[in-house]
Amino acid sequence: MKKNPLKITETILRDAHQSQAATRMRLEDMLPALEMLDNMGYWSCECWGGATFDVCMRFLNEDPWERLRTIKKHMPKTKLQMLFRGQNILGYKHYADDVVEEFCKKSIENGIDVVRVFDALNDIRNLRKAVESVKKYGAWAEVALSYTVSPVHNDEYFVNVAKELEKMGADSICIKDMANLLLPYHAFELVKKLKDNVSVPIHMHTHNTAGTGDMVNLMAAQAGVDIVDCALSPLANGTSQPATESLVATLEGTERDTGMDLVKLNEAAVHFRKVAEKLKKDGTLDPKVLNVDTKALMYQVPGGMLSNMLGQLKQAGQEDRYYDVLAEVPRVRKDFGYPPLVTPTSQIVGTQAVMNIIGGERYKMVPKESKGLLRGEYGKLPGEVNEEVRRKCIGDDKVITCRPADLLEPELEKYRKEAGDLAKCEEDVLSYALFPQVAPKFLAYRNNPQKEAPAAPAKETAPKADPNAVRELYVEDCGG
Ligand code: CO
Repeated sequence: MKKNPLKITETILRDAHQSQAATRMRLEDMLPALEMLDNMGYWSCECWGGATFDVCMRFLNEDPWERLRTIKKHMPKTKLQMLFRGQNILGYKHYADDVVEEFCKKSIENGIDVVRVFDALNDIRNLRKAVESVKKYGAWAEVALSYTVSPVHNDEYFVNVAKELEKMGADSICIKDMANLLLPYHAFELVKKLKDNVSVPIHMHTHNTAGTGDMVNLMAAQAGVDIVDCALSPLANGTSQPATESLVATLEGTERDTGMDLVKLNEAAVHFRKVAEKLKKDGTLDPKVLNVDTKALMYQVPGGMLSNMLGQLKQAGQEDRYYDVLAEVPRVRKDFGYPPLVTPTSQIVGTQAVMNIIGGERYKMVPKESKGLLRGEYGKLPGEVNEEVRRKCIGDDKVITCRPADLLEPELEKYRKEAGDLAKCEEDVLSYALFPQVAPKFLAYRNNPQKEAPAAPAKETAPKADPNAVRELYVEDCGG
């Protein structure tokens, strides 16, 4: 039997708790298990990026850079991985190239080995600067295809994008199925086609929201995928990744045997079970997220987006319009040229669908983010845009066709000035550049903990019935 071990990326330090527990796992909850994780033989361990950076400062009073350095110190043998939103970095707007490059440089200096870069629209121009910078500073550039289902997103489309990514210098290509839309037999087909057309390793990222994740990973393994994402069982399944131990056991003795040790995995799981219990007790992990939820299979939207839209409807006092909004989502998506639904496009399409329903007329209320998307400010939309809708939303505004960041002057110096004395190092300047509303409060506290009270703990504000309140785009990560 020819051996071709399947490699595993462990997500328990990032996507698992982002998906199940609003990213609230603290460094102190990770520390006792880091050495164990380091000895497991993972291909990589995802531990940074996505929502971790924002949540560290906003809710946990933790310096995200310090967290990264500490993890690196305790896990010197394992490649540390982060999730990076192309030209948006970890934020929600386009940054100038100098900020993108500096962020890559500092992430790598502080301990990151693998950067998974994605763009919500799969616009290659939005990925190029990040990929170039990751390689320039010596890390592994994994580029993700934002997977979705639409009349323009067929296998041929994804294979063509993958070929472009390989040409661009991607060290591996990830199928990023953030919304759990990829079904097992299709996963087999897609992996096969990618393996036939590109030579870099293929990495599968899915979730188990709809209960299909384990089967997707298994079929991908059968088709020859090189790496898959899993989470240790205490924070696996439901909205998170399928469990590491289950896949490792399934493949034992087969040609895809991972070579990993179930006893060792269990030792780490014993620790994280206590952490999961704690997150359940303090209410950040609602056991509901562990159930199989098949709505995504019908509506083809990420789970996080469904709860955002429901929250917005509650805010407007129009919860009874939920199913009207669900029916409106595919129409808005079609009008906007079928963007994949991942942060930030998931929030933009979801919010627009809510407004079209509660406004009583389609595109009467149009948030600035919808206008930006239609003006080309996020990059090229994959399909045809409904021109009538575009005119109604942006009038005679010019639609840009260049790479959006080409219109941005260098910004680092401006951020250095704005951050002023609060920033004690270049890393602090980057924290400020990405989250200018959140970082000052955090940095003031960190610099002077006696004087500055810690940031108020996360508190849900009571929803009030006001349609105008929904104008605010919901900017917590949904689907990543
Ligand atoms: Co994910």
